Amino acid sequence: MYKLRPLLFLNQQCSSMAAMKPLRLMRVMSQRASLSSSAGKWEGGVSMVQGASRGIGLEFVKQLLEKEKGHVVASCRNPEGATGLHHLKSKFGERLSVLQLDVTNESTIEQSAKSIGKRYGSLNLLINASGILSIPQVLQPETTLRKVEKSSLMLAYEVNAVGPVLVIKHMWPLLKDGGGSGTDRDVAVVANLSARVGSIGDNRLGGWHSYRASKTALNQLTRNISVEFARRKDPITCILLHPGTVDTDLSKPFQRNVPENKLFTTEFSVQKLLSIILNAKSHDNGKFFAWDGQEIPW
Ligand SMILES: NC(=O)c1ccc[n+]([C@@H]2O[C@H](COP(=O)([O-])OP(=O)(O)OC[C@H]3O[C@@H](n4cnc5c(N)ncnc54)[C@H](OP(=O)(O)O)[C@@H]3O)[C@@H](O)[C@H]2O)c1
Repeated sequence: MYKLRPLLFLNQQCSSMAAMKPLRLMRVMSQRASLSSSAGKWEGGVSMVQGASRGIGLEFVKQLLEKEKGHVVASCRNPEGATGLHHLKSKFGERLSVLQLDVTNESTIEQSAKSIGKRYGSLNLLINASGILSIPQVLQPETTLRKVEKSSLMLAYEVNAVGPVLVIKHMWPLLKDGGGSGTDRDVAVVANLSARVGSIGDNRLGGWHSYRASKTALNQLTRNISVEFARRKDPITCILLHPGTVDTDLSKPFQRNVPENKLFTTEFSVQKLLSIILNAKSHDNGKFFAWDGQEIPW
C-alpha cells in the first residue's frame, strides 16, 4: 500500500502617466499598443520567469522566447550554473536577461526589481515557478505525522509560499505599469505555480504535510493579493496553476508508478499553462486552474 502512495499523491496533483519620465512613458505606451495586436499577448512586452534554471520554469522561458516577441527576464539562484539558460541566451541574445534571485533572500528580490525597472520600466507577466518538494537529507515528503519536523514545515513554507509573495510585493509597481485599463486582455498577469495537493477540498489522501500545506498557504496568499489588487483597481490578474504531473527533477523520485500518459513532458504542460496565461482576463483574478483549464476547488 505504501508503495502506491507516491503515485496516488502525484496523480492527485493529476498612473499616473503625467508623473512618468518621458522615456518610461514611451516604453509603457508602446507596450500597451502592442498588447492590442492579435499576435502574441506580450509582443513587445516584458515577462519574468522566477525559478528558471530548470524544469517547468526553464521551459516557460523557452516557449515565451519562441512564441512571443517580447523580452524575457529569467531569474534563478545560480545563473552561472544554469546551463539551459546559457543555451537560450546564445540563441536569443538581448531578448533574454538573466538575474540572480533566491526567494529566501529578500535583498536579491529587491535588487532584481530595481534592475528590471531600470532596464525595462515595467512588467507584463510574472511567473513564479520556483518550488521544492524534496531535498536529499533535508526535506522528504512525509507519509505520516510521525515524520513531520518543524524544520521541514518551515523550509517548505519559506520557499513555496513566502518567496513568491515577496517577489510579487517587489514587482508590484512594475506590474501596475505593465497592465493597461484592467479590462479583458489589457492586464498584467501574475501566475504562481501551485499544485493540486494544495487544495483542501480535494484532499482525500493526506500525507506530504509540508509540501501540501505550503501550497495551500501559497493559494490563500495569492487569493488575498488578488482581492487587494481588485480593490485598488490595479490592472493585474493573479492566477494559480497546477501543471499536472510533469517529468522534472521535482517529480523524479515519485514517478515509479505514474502511468506514462499521466506523466507530462515540460513542453506539453507549459504549452497548456501558457495558453491559460495568455487568455487570462480580469475576471480570472484569484482563480486556481489545472493544466487543462479546469478550476480546482480550494
Ligand atoms: N513537476 C511536477 O510534477 C509538479 C507538479 C505540481 C506542481 N509543481 C510545481 O511547479 C513548480 C516547478 O516545479 P518543477 O517540476 O519545474 O521543479 P524543479 O525541476 O525541481 O525546479 C524547481 C526550480 O525551483 C528553483 N528553486 C528552488 N529553491 C529556490 C529558491 N530558494 N529560490 C529560487 N529558486 C529556487 C530551482 O532552482 P535551482 O536550480 O537553483 O535549485 C529550480 O529552478 C514548483 O512550484 C512545483 O511545486 C510541479
